[in-house]
Amino acid sequence: MANRKLIAGNWKMNGSLAALAEIDAIGAAAAANPAVDVAICPPFTLIAPAAGRGVAIGSQDCHAAAKGAHTGCVSATLLIEAGATYAIVGHSERRQDQHETDAEVRAKAEAAITGGLIAIVCVGETEAERDAGNAVSVVEGQLTGSVPPAGTAATLVVAYEPVWAIGTGRTPSVADVADMHAAIRAKLVALLGAEGPGVRILYGGSMNPKNAAELLAVPDVDGGLVGGASLTAAQFVPIIEAGA
Ligand code: G3P
Repeated sequence: MANRKLIAGNWKMNGSLAALAEIDAIGAAAAANPAVDVAICPPFTLIAPAAGRGVAIGSQDCHAAAKGAHTGCVSATLLIEAGATYAIVGHSERRQDQHETDAEVRAKAEAAITGGLIAIVCVGETEAERDAGNAVSVVEGQLTGSVPPAGTAATLVVAYEPVWAIGTGRTPSVADVADMHAAIRAKLVALLGAEGPGVRILYGGSMNPKNAAELLAVPDVDGGLVGGASLTAAQFVPIIEAGA
């Protein structure tokens, strides 16, 4: 049976209080499309004001510790208190800019889940890794290192985001997406047993209103993690509708 789709937006370091009007419009679209789960992951400072507007809210990171002397960091408990229900961890921009390792990503995912959040663990190969024919093995390695063994269908989501497709307008072929998502599914079953089939696998990387329907129709694509096209309701709502 197909998993319920999740269409999640990652605002990255974009948005503002003025952009809450977009959240309101996205919330209205979520209410109108109850067959699909919808989430927006804005910057930390917008989590509280964005909560309660009809769309689930997520963070873009979550510290591995529950509390303590970690200047500039935010814990799962604080995120939940602010109104979050999801936490993206291990996005390639953080793996690159903050040098996050698979082990750190796993620790963050475990902390998010233990704290009561749904962890969205990101994986994906670089263009050089794909050109070398190593895309699947790279992603399998990231899953082995980053997926928390206690993850379940209810607490864990995996996002496949080929690094070379992020913000570029380029996407893999449908066949390549299908191959990768099948490989991710097999790995999740190997890692998590009976929970593996229910863990949702999102595609991310230049998903937009034009290509969403085709990508979301691929087997084992259980939704999308959308960057640029999630910033406005005009772009994001058609993607929600494509997933419904
Ligand atoms: O997390 C979503 C993201 O990395 C994809 O970004 O702008 O290519 O949709 P974009």
